Amino acid sequence: MENNMKQTMSPIRDLKPSLASLEEDVMSGLKKDQKSLPPKLFYDAEGSRLFNQITELPEYYLTRAEKGILITHQNDIATFIGSSSTLVELGCGNEEKISLILSGLENVSDYIPVDISLSALQETADKIKNDNPLLSVQGIRADYTESLSFLSGISQNKKVISFLGSTLGNFEAEPRELFLNQLAQELRLEDGLLIGIDLKKPKRILEAAYNDSNGITARFNKNVLQRINKELDANFQLNNFSHLACYNEEDQRIEMYLVSERIQTVEICGESFHFQKGERIHTENSYKFSVDEFEKTLHHIGLRLRKVWTDQENHFAVTYVEPLNV
Ligand code: TRP
Repeated sequence: MENNMKQTMSPIRDLKPSLASLEEDVMSGLKKDQKSLPPKLFYDAEGSRLFNQITELPEYYLTRAEKGILITHQNDIATFIGSSSTLVELGCGNEEKISLILSGLENVSDYIPVDISLSALQETADKIKNDNPLLSVQGIRADYTESLSFLSGISQNKKVISFLGSTLGNFEAEPRELFLNQLAQELRLEDGLLIGIDLKKPKRILEAAYNDSNGITARFNKNVLQRINKELDANFQLNNFSHLACYNEEDQRIEMYLVSERIQTVEICGESFHFQKGERIHTENSYKFSVDEFEKTLHHIGLRLRKVWTDQENHFAVTYVEPLNV
């Protein structure tokens, strides 16, 4: 049975981040004055599963709006991608968005999903291969925030790199520019980027999206502690932390924290970490953009905003981006 199943599994190139790098991220983050953990740590198998649940919550408008855009503008998006292109999807998560894109395309040469979560990646690669038997599917498990070197020389065809969801908003301004700049280095003149950005909107809509009434978001946020317990032999008591998400109007970002509900000490890899009552671990920022700001950032690094698609409520935008001197 095992063997039979393996034969139908799509090939994955596994550039797994080492346990040492997990330990380093956790230790250095929790030794800062403002304790923090990088958002990429959310996405182990359980985290990816919980995130899929978030995307279906009534309050979490982002994925719904983005999928709506991919459906409404399917043909137009397909025209920009062109035929016989290679599609790379950074942070693919589940198969839903790429399926919408693929169904508008007559002919794609290959699909290269990239994700930090091996389970999510394998599942997506297999589903897409199953639905599109003629398509070449080659997954890459990698931490794309560390390096994009796996992209060089990946294809002779025109390539379009999609970076959907609102992950770009999870970078701070400077790393965001660095990341876009690295992406730009991988583009030849005919290539393009398909990037999702979450747009500015009233605080109440934003805060509801990150504080759902079923507590799924809280479970997702706390799962990072569970993961550290499992992988780094730590003893976080999940009940002693609570989820907090608030919109910082000045910096135009949702800020996510885990708040220590009491004075406590946690052991991680043999080291002790002390928490005051009310002390916060910062787990993620989610910046909200205007199309104009985004366009300026792109221009700054030699990229051009070719096309913007939005939903009716103007909550979210999917953009097509090209090298400037086309
Ligand atoms: N990239 C997602 C976003 O910025 C991640 C996310 C959604 C998230 N809900 C969350 C992260 C709750 C932490 C807690 O929208």
